Amino acid sequence: MAGVSREAVLDALSRVQDPELGMSVLELRMIKSVEVGQDGVVKVVLALTTEACPLTETLKHDVEAAISELGGKPSVELTVMTKQELDEVTALVRKRYGDGATYTTSSSIPVFGHGDIMKILAVGSGKGGVGKSLMAAMTAVELRRAGFDVGILDADITGASVSEAFGLGGMEVVAEGNKIVPLQTKSGIKAISMNLFMDNPEGAVIWRGPLVTKAIQQFYSDVAWGKLHYLIIDMPPGTSDAAITVFQSLPVDGVVVVSSPQGVANLIVGKFINMAKTVKVPVIGLVENMAYARCPCGDVIYPFGHPSGQETAEKHGIPFLGELPVDSRAAELMDAGHIEDYASREFQEAVKRIRLQAQMLHPSNRLRRDWQLQVGEGGS
Ligand SMILES: Nc1ncnc2c1ncn2[C@@H]1O[C@H](COP(=O)(O)OP(=O)(O)OP(=O)(O)O)[C@@H](O)[C@H]1O
Ligand SMILES: [Mg+2]
Repeated sequence: MAGVSREAVLDALSRVQDPELGMSVLELRMIKSVEVGQDGVVKVVLALTTEACPLTETLKHDVEAAISELGGKPSVELTVMTKQELDEVTALVRKRYGDGATYTTSSSIPVFGHGDIMKILAVGSGKGGVGKSLMAAMTAVELRRAGFDVGILDADITGASVSEAFGLGGMEVVAEGNKIVPLQTKSGIKAISMNLFMDNPEGAVIWRGPLVTKAIQQFYSDVAWGKLHYLIIDMPPGTSDAAITVFQSLPVDGVVVVSSPQGVANLIVGKFINMAKTVKVPVIGLVENMAYARCPCGDVIYPFGHPSGQETAEKHGIPFLGELPVDSRAAELMDAGHIEDYASREFQEAVKRIRLQAQMLHPSNRLRRDWQLQVGEGGS
């Protein structure tokens, strides 16, 4: 197709990231050549770091998707880096990330480094009961199904639900050295949730703000998460201390905002989006939960009013990630601790969009934000 320029292709490729390294395929010198033909075919040679690269399909798919989005016809040829090329890239990555340093901000908020975690995505809303925990759980489940190493951190200390959704209640949490070992779900997702530390999961956590803040920080810094492609954070509702702690203390790369069709939900969601913007956490996009329901007769009904997620997303200038139906099976499986058995095309597609949008978050956002937090507002 005419009109696709080499520059546009390079620009699109600069947003395709290796999820393990959080750097773009261009920065990682994985793109060996780009040729744009008269017929709109865009030939790209993609050099993998190793022949057995576990992310081959993901990288190839993401490069193809970036080209298709421009209107080009992708033709991706795979090759493997030479030893020298690999050494050069390794040096680049080391230079970029150094170690997983921990900083303290001028306002004494500890800001933790990424360590071995490549992408940290929060799921939040501002409003309670809109399906944040279900969305966070399904994001982890779908990413795991796609072959990634995934963890889920339940940052809702007083209303924890991750352990219940994954059926982890009653399992014992152990420590190794001075770190807590996260539990593993059936499909191998690492999980930590306040309920795992309580004798009676129905008992209330009656804690004041500072203790809640400390618990959220410890769930990140004192847990042996190990190497992860994605850590998903199920956020507490509201724009309170606890939510701000997630944004300011943890090195969140981006936040997925969950809304539902009620007018009031959209208003509160707007406050949440503005809070994320204020603390400079990139918004990955908005997903509208409980947007519609399918009757057994095949009719579609709108139990909570007409969907308005797309409009809200446009109003705030953020990507719209899709509409999710009310599905009693999701609620049943979540209640029964079997959320990993739930599958739905709508959730799968929404998570695919989340992953693609998250890939476009430039690592420099994170570095810039860490730096700003390090030196205090006004730093560059
Ligand atoms: N699309 C859906 N279809 C059916 N049930 C749903 C859907 N989304 C959420 N639910 C159910 O609604 C209830 C609330 O969902 P969830 O706990 O995920 O919301 P939340 O925003 O995390 O709530 P809180 O603010 O209390 O943390 C749960 O029982 C959940 O199973
Ligand atoms: Mg919740």
